[in-house]
Amino acid sequence: MSSVNNPAEKTLTELGVTSAEQVLSRFAELRQLFDTEISDPTIKILWKERRDEWMGRKSGKFTQISENWLKPSTPELKKTVGAELNKLKSHVVARLEEKRVEIEQGEGESSSAGDGLDLSLPGVVRPIGTHHLIRQVFQEIEDIFFSIGFSVVEGPEIETPYYNFEALNIPEHHPVRDDMDTFYLDLPKGAPGPLLLRTHTSPVQIRTMEKRQPPIRVIVPGKVYRRDNPDATHSFMFHQIEGLAVDSDITFCDFTGTIDYFVKQFFGESVKTRFRPSYFPFTEPSVEFDASCIFCAGTGTAKTGGVCGKCKGSGWIELFGAGMVDPAVYGFVNYDPKKVTGFAFGIGIDRLAMLKYGIDDIQVFFQNDVRFLRQFP
Ligand code: FA5
Repeated sequence: MSSVNNPAEKTLTELGVTSAEQVLSRFAELRQLFDTEISDPTIKILWKERRDEWMGRKSGKFTQISENWLKPSTPELKKTVGAELNKLKSHVVARLEEKRVEIEQGEGESSSAGDGLDLSLPGVVRPIGTHHLIRQVFQEIEDIFFSIGFSVVEGPEIETPYYNFEALNIPEHHPVRDDMDTFYLDLPKGAPGPLLLRTHTSPVQIRTMEKRQPPIRVIVPGKVYRRDNPDATHSFMFHQIEGLAVDSDITFCDFTGTIDYFVKQFFGESVKTRFRPSYFPFTEPSVEFDASCIFCAGTGTAKTGGVCGKCKGSGWIELFGAGMVDPAVYGFVNYDPKKVTGFAFGIGIDRLAMLKYGIDDIQVFFQNDVRFLRQFP
């Protein structure tokens, strides 16, 4: 705006203003100027420019009035200039705001009527999440067992000691409880208890056999909890898949064949497997199941030379515990041990996923770092 129609660019002395009446008339002139601008139809697109022209902190008209009129004015005129400046400012602020609302409402009406809608513009891309790697591995394992006639059952994460221990042939004071003792719940006084976070998925063996008669072929995916200190292969919450097959004529061969089939499907044909004798109070005989180390192809020597760090040079990695169901367990579910036999296994999913996908720290599963999660879409 030129200085011809912007008197605020000059001082009052330059404008020849010496009396209060002249001050009033100069402010009236400015108000007239503003009213003309704000009533002009171009205000719809020039609203921001007009606002800055008047209100701008560096060179807006009010700053100019303050610098050129108010500050240098004589003591006689200062009061009138100050009062008129405030009045004009209130007027301008109120009218600008009114206009802004008017313009926005107008835009809303026109866009709701479909005006200005550009269908050729790209849409809003919303990121799509994926299943966590642990969930993906659960799914993979479930599919393998579905293909040989198993179905999924679930059980509670909060258990009674009876299902977690006693019915699995682990009486109170049995030394095995030391490894597995867990988080007990603080219950209100008088509440039936005790209750604990399950240490394994094996209690669901009991719950299933209580409800169903053989033949049984189930897998049980779920979370379990132990008082283990976190490190690269231990977490206080981790995941297991329990397996249970009970029928009238299940043999150790059915058991080894099933496990061998699963491991080959999951890790590939080249993986070798072996059983080692072990001990679980609820299986007899009990085994630990190992697979040949996928990192060094079972040689025990790392590709870069030296001892393989994953299998510690043995060429084997422990995958899970398993065995033939101990006849004593059938006593807890009213099955006749002379008529039925079966096998059970408990696979640690987190470690299985680590082996298959070459992950060297279990903790990354629980840290929710999207850079890790995105590697497994
Ligand atoms: C058990 O939990 C038995 N219930 C398994 C079983 C089922 C045996 C049925 C016989 C019949 P174990 O304590 O070994 O066994 O745990 C099984 C698997 O869970 C281990 O091989 C390991 O892969 C995983 N695991 C154990 N503790 C942890 C932990 N703190 N963090 C991550 N994984 C673990």
